[in-house]
Amino acid sequence: MTNDMNAERLKLAVDLARRGGDLALDYFRRRDALVVETKRHVTDLVSEADREVETLIRDALEKTFPEDAILGEEHGLSEGSSGFTWVLDPIDGTAPYLNGLPGWCVSIGARDGDGPVLGVIYAPILDELFVACRGQGATLNGEPIRALDGDLRAGLLGIGANDRVASDRVGRMLTELMDAGVGWMRYGSGALMLAWVAAGRLVGYAEPRMNAWDCMAGYVLILEAGGRILPFPDGPGLTLPAPVLGASAGAYDELRDICDFGSAPDW
Ligand code: IPD
Ligand code: CA
Ligand code: CA
Repeated sequence: MTNDMNAERLKLAVDLARRGGDLALDYFRRRDALVVETKRHVTDLVSEADREVETLIRDALEKTFPEDAILGEEHGLSEGSSGFTWVLDPIDGTAPYLNGLPGWCVSIGARDGDGPVLGVIYAPILDELFVACRGQGATLNGEPIRALDGDLRAGLLGIGANDRVASDRVGRMLTELMDAGVGWMRYGSGALMLAWVAAGRLVGYAEPRMNAWDCMAGYVLILEAGGRILPFPDGPGLTLPAPVLGASAGAYDELRDICDFGSAPDW
């Protein structure tokens, strides 16, 4: 991919994150009227807003870059031939969203043959736009951001878990973190917490089982902000869940050891 194409795709991703965010915000303000479906658990919800926002983004991507593949949470995988794959979550943090909380976002990431390449996360209520492109650094509302310096105790750790993970697995992770003296918090948008790692607001983020659309954009942000990530599987693995972990450089190794996500998924 040439730098020009990188720049064009990034420009479109920023525009679509904002337009998707505006549409999501419109539904958010009328959320009492939204028809909410429970996918399989009270924390696993979907509404018309999620589907419509993804449709808006996908339609524009398909029109401008018809040869790119697209993987989205609500409408799945469309194959492409360019070697470039968009990976997006129209609303990450659906539980906070549907409960009237401010921390949710539109997450548009992408990978190419060399790995994660582009990440845009927009949180409409907070009016915060995180942008990163491989080799070009990361920004928040246009200002450069950096992951924290220092070790795992240099800041708060973000934690995530969903109902697909065994309760004892989550309990073990929390026990070990607390025994190690790590201060942790949980908020219902993993994508946004990954962006907060890039912005130096959190020292790291860990979740035993997530999907590529939850982490791809955040991973680019963290890498470009000087942090480290546990690579997400490529190829057929891209559509399957896997452990997610990103942290500042000084916290990464210890966090990875404590979480013990290993090479094989553990849920
Ligand atoms: C969820 C959120 C949550 C995380 C879950 C994700 P959704 O995504 O990121 O924080 O713990 O694993 O599935 O359902 O809000 O798009
Ligand atoms: Ca998500
Ligand atoms: Ca979602």
